[in-house]
Amino acid sequence: EYHKGVKHLYEKGYLHKVPKKYMFPASERPTKSMDDDSNVAKENLQLPIIDFTDLIGPNRLQALESLANACEQYGFFQLVNHNISDDITRSSIDVAGRFFDLPLEERAKYMTTDMRAAVRYGTSFSQTKDSVFCWRDFLKLICNPLPDFVPHWPASPLDFQEVVASYAEKTKHLFLTIMEAILESLGIMEEEAKENDNNNNNNNIMKELDNGSQMLVTNFYPPCPEPDLTLGMHPHSDYGFLTLLLQDEVEGLQIQYQDKWLTVQPIPNAFVVNIGDHLEIFSNGKYKSVLHRVLVNKAKSRVSVASLHSLPFDCTVRPSPKLIDEENPKRYMDTDFASFLAYVSTRETKKKDFLESRK
Ligand code: SIN
Ligand code: FE2
Repeated sequence: EYHKGVKHLYEKGYLHKVPKKYMFPASERPTKSMDDDSNVAKENLQLPIIDFTDLIGPNRLQALESLANACEQYGFFQLVNHNISDDITRSSIDVAGRFFDLPLEERAKYMTTDMRAAVRYGTSFSQTKDSVFCWRDFLKLICNPLPDFVPHWPASPLDFQEVVASYAEKTKHLFLTIMEAILESLGIMEEEAKENDNNNNNNNIMKELDNGSQMLVTNFYPPCPEPDLTLGMHPHSDYGFLTLLLQDEVEGLQIQYQDKWLTVQPIPNAFVVNIGDHLEIFSNGKYKSVLHRVLVNKAKSRVSVASLHSLPFDCTVRPSPKLIDEENPKRYMDTDFASFLAYVSTRETKKKDFLESRK
């Protein structure tokens, strides 16, 4: 029954307790509502906010400085005034939610344990490997190249393919624009990257990212009778270069900041952007991927849509030569994507260990 997902459990309607399968060991439970909440950051602490219009306008230099600070100190920021219309962000969250409202038989068509499937519906992180389940169902969509994959995506709700394909295209474009700014903030200019390419170093990172991998993950977290006993997602870091996340108006996402958990306040239509493991390697440790988790709550279900971006699946990730010198020796070994994924798929929560082992 658990393998049908937590939405299904919730729909059966007699859940007054969290089933054992979802109970986290005491040491891993959220302590938010306990008396001792010393490991949760003060409410007034906020994630840095980057205004996209500054980033592409006359205030670019100042905005790049704020961006560098956000990436170094938090590994996360919220992006406002980006060029994706509110209409598109709203309808993407909306159609993602409507997919989870479909009858179980319809959703179950996409249940598979094949990690490479164009579409994968599942629950927790991995319903075959997790001993304790997370309070989360998800739909993962592989996006590149888009025309090859869209026809395999769910055809119900009727507008799903159209809305999500247009969303995928727009977020890919936004990702590339943010990456250009991030490279500039690291002192790696686009022009220099092109020069390297001409020298046949095959080092044009922007070109590789343009042809790179994109995966959309839509998440659904039903209300939970005992939210203090479980998590929507356990602490993890993302694998790629950047993740662009849309969350609805219900809070739940927390990031680790100075050994405390900091709640990311939802800002309507803003993107939560975070550094992934591959960018940590590429930046030679200057920017780090940061652990984050998701809390659930009693009253409301929550929907989020994450877009994960990296190099093509057959690429090797290595620290940029531009960021290696006498003061900054190479901190990570070259890492091919396949062995990275093989490793993390067996030890989903242990990616940070993997990065450590590559040092
Ligand atoms: C979410 O906030 O629901 C998703 C967070 C994540 O993708 O790690
Ligand atoms: Fe994540």
